[in-house]
Amino acid sequence: MAACSVFRPGLFNHKVAIVTGGGTGIGKAISAELLELGCSVVISSRKAERLEAAAQEMRQKIPPSSSARVTPLPCNIRNEEEVKALISSVLKQFGRIDFLVNNGGGQFSSPAEHMSTKGWKAVIDTNLTGTFHCCKEVYSAWMKQHGGVIINIIADMWKGFPGMAHTGAARAAVDNLTKSLAIEWAHSGVRVNAIAPGTIFSKTAMENYKELGPNLLRCLFHFALPKDWEYQRAVCFLLSPGASYISGATLRVDAGQSLYHSMWEIPNHNAWPEAPEGENLEALKQLLSPPSKL
Ligand code: ADE
Repeated sequence: MAACSVFRPGLFNHKVAIVTGGGTGIGKAISAELLELGCSVVISSRKAERLEAAAQEMRQKIPPSSSARVTPLPCNIRNEEEVKALISSVLKQFGRIDFLVNNGGGQFSSPAEHMSTKGWKAVIDTNLTGTFHCCKEVYSAWMKQHGGVIINIIADMWKGFPGMAHTGAARAAVDNLTKSLAIEWAHSGVRVNAIAPGTIFSKTAMENYKELGPNLLRCLFHFALPKDWEYQRAVCFLLSPGASYISGATLRVDAGQSLYHSMWEIPNHNAWPEAPEGENLEALKQLLSPPSKL
């Protein structure tokens, strides 16, 4: 974890944030920096024990002079009623919700042809529908009247996501949802943005990537390994007044990786498109030859 925030101390004093998936990885790093900046943070995920342990760890680092609190509240974001209960409980305890960071998600690696419909739906339900539930409920219950900022954490799926097609599709959908909500909710003073992290190396990420992991790691060794805090800084910036004119944007936080590097390879095979022969080749040559000078 980064030792010290680059942002002004007290930047988020008296603000309240919900961070889904806030007990591990990127979500935990985001929560820790928000706390450091004076924001009270509700960390949420399905696993109560892990959340409590993460909250205990983060509490040790809050200076006694700070009014910020970290509160673990379990919730399955797939379940709309649980999301309603989460938002209502946060409003009861804190009386406001300034920020929502939709970081909770999950996937498993599998070739698309072996993915069961159940597995596909589970990933879409968590990553897309879960994010939708949280956005919709926080908006209806609070932000519609009071404004706020929502950040969706997506992924580097710009060139597809072979081996995890379900999460690629869900994250691309969240990218689009981000834009729709930014427009629909602008009149309420709500900004909605997304962060697309590059491939990261963390314990949780490697557990997720499974057999894809070593390949991704090999690619990553070509450049500096990104750490969780590269993302939390971008999240804090987008939440801050410094980003007051930014909405509907997806910020790629990947040091340009997605522009110049591809993780994917197609192994050699015998099913390449056939090269044209005979008449077809002649016709193609005609088509491609430069126009004759008169
Ligand atoms: N993280 C992964 N899956 C989740 C879920 N269903 N609800 C909340 N956080 C999650």
